[in-house]
Order: sequence, then C-alpha cells, then structure tokens
Amino acid sequence: MKVARSIAELVGLRAEVPAGNRVGFVATMGALHAGHASLIEQARAQSDTVVVSIFVNPLQFGPGEDYARYPRPLEADLDRCAELGVDLVFVPSVGDLYPPGRQVSVSAGTMGTVLEGSARPGHFDGVLTVVLKLFNLVRPQVAVFGRKDAQQLACVSRMAVDLNLDVRVVGAPTVREPDGLALSSRNVFLSPADRGLALSLVGALEGAAAQPTLAGALDAAWAVLDEASLEPGFELDYLAAVNPETFAEVASDHPGDVLLVVAAKVGAVRLIDNVILRHP
Ligand code: PAJ
Repeated sequence: MKVARSIAELVGLRAEVPAGNRVGFVATMGALHAGHASLIEQARAQSDTVVVSIFVNPLQFGPGEDYARYPRPLEADLDRCAELGVDLVFVPSVGDLYPPGRQVSVSAGTMGTVLEGSARPGHFDGVLTVVLKLFNLVRPQVAVFGRKDAQQLACVSRMAVDLNLDVRVVGAPTVREPDGLALSSRNVFLSPADRGLALSLVGALEGAAAQPTLAGALDAAWAVLDEASLEPGFELDYLAAVNPETFAEVASDHPGDVLLVVAAKVGAVRLIDNVILRHP
C-alpha cells in the first residue's frame, strides 16, 4: 500500500496506475470503522485499484462544530486500509488542498440548504467542493458513498450529473452496531446514557418502516421521538419524509418510495439516520 501525503505525491502515484485499470475511490475523514470498511470493500469489488482519502475537511464544519476535536487516529487508519487491501491512501494537509487566495467553490443549490443543510449552513457546499477536488486529483471511475449520509450522497450524485463528471457514484448500505445504532466516528463521544437515547432514533425509524402507509409511518416515528424529547439529553432537530434524490419533502399521501430522515442532538453529539420506506 502506498501513502501520498501531498498533492504532488498523489499525482505521481496516480500516474503509475496502468491506464486500463478501473480506479475505485472512497473519500473519508478518517477514524475508520466498519462502515468505511464496507465502502472500501465495495470499491474493491468494482475496481482494479482502490484509492482512499483521509482528510478532515475544515470547509464543511461550521463555527462551533467539532472540527478541532474530530478524532484523527491516522496510524490505526493506515493499518486498517492496508488490511482492507487499499492500494493508495491520500492524506493531504489543509494547506495543500486550500492554499491562500482560494476563491472558487461548489454550491449544492437548494438541496444543500434544507434539513442537514439548514442545521449546518454551508456544510454541503464544503463537502462538494472537497469531493470535486478529490475527484479531480484521484480521477476515479467509481466512487462509493454511504447511504447513512443520504443528503450527502444525493448532493454528490446531483453534482456528478450537473457538472458532467465522468464518475459513477455508488451508494452503499448503512452499517450498524448489533443494537441498531448507525456506526459513526462521532459515536465515541456518546456516554452510556446518551447511547440509550440515541437508540430512539433507530426505534423511530424501525417503527416507521413497519407501517403500511407513509402517514402511519410518520405517526409511529413521532410517537417514539416525542417521548425521547422529554429527556433532557435529547433534542430532536427534524423528522422528514423526502424524495431520496432531490431531498424535497413529500406529502404524507405520497405514493412510492420515500426516505425518512431524522436528526437529533444526543448529549454533545449530533446524530443523523434514515430509512427507505417502500409503499406500493
Ligand atoms: P466520513 O464521515 O468519514 O464518511 C466517509 C464515508 O463513509 C461517507 O460516504 C459516509 O456516508 C460513509 N459512512 C459513514 N458511516 C457509515 C455507516 N455507518 N455505514 C455506511 N457508510 C458510512 O462523509 C464524510 O466523511 C465527508 O463528508 C467526506 C465525504 C469525506 C467529504 O469530506
């Protein structure tokens, strides 16, 4: 496994990849867990050369968010990548990706301003800007993103269409703990009591998915979330039924598949989760 610690090193190592190889790419902020590993395995299965980036992107964090305390266990991450058969890891520095004088960035449009984008202004513009830069440097044919961050996946997929990117964006299923909690690098900040509260997100989504109609699903989810909201450590941000591609909210009599998305602050940690509701 090769490690590129600068753009110059990455460009050199990318040039060594044989022209006929399919390059699969997974962008991460490190603190790798089984969710990231499943993306890397998908990339491995769909390509000849697997590239992983590890970069905590300051552009997608708002003031007062957890940029400074985001976990950065780089050596363990590199060991994990090696075990997973990654060919090349790109670990750029902030100064390398964002040199002084920077002006131009990507806008996610309206779909980047609703729900997560409303709670975190500028977040998706920051995500798309770094993802486009990484795509331009790595030049992958396939890029795998987790459905756990469903709005991010929708924004990246839309960017690929709107900016005519020559990359296939693939969504991968959410990997969960045995109790159902979606794996996240931020879970390490949950106290045991917070963890119990965090499970109400899972309970709300599972309760909703068992209902035959969207209206019933919303009622079931609200019942769980209203109760959780009585606890001092639990602050619901939103529950919404959206079109999974556009993230526009849908009416409760909407036919067909919808995505139910939820976000809450549990203790000091902001958690998001979602489930697809398939109603014939
Ligand atoms: P990060 O949070 O490190 O996530 C990297 C990738 O792993 C994303 O595609 C995310 O959706 C996926 N992922 C995270 N938890 C997952 C889980 N439990 N199951 C399946 N996939 C999971 O998302 C980012 O980094 C950044 O915004 C990034 C795209 C790297 C741009 O900076």
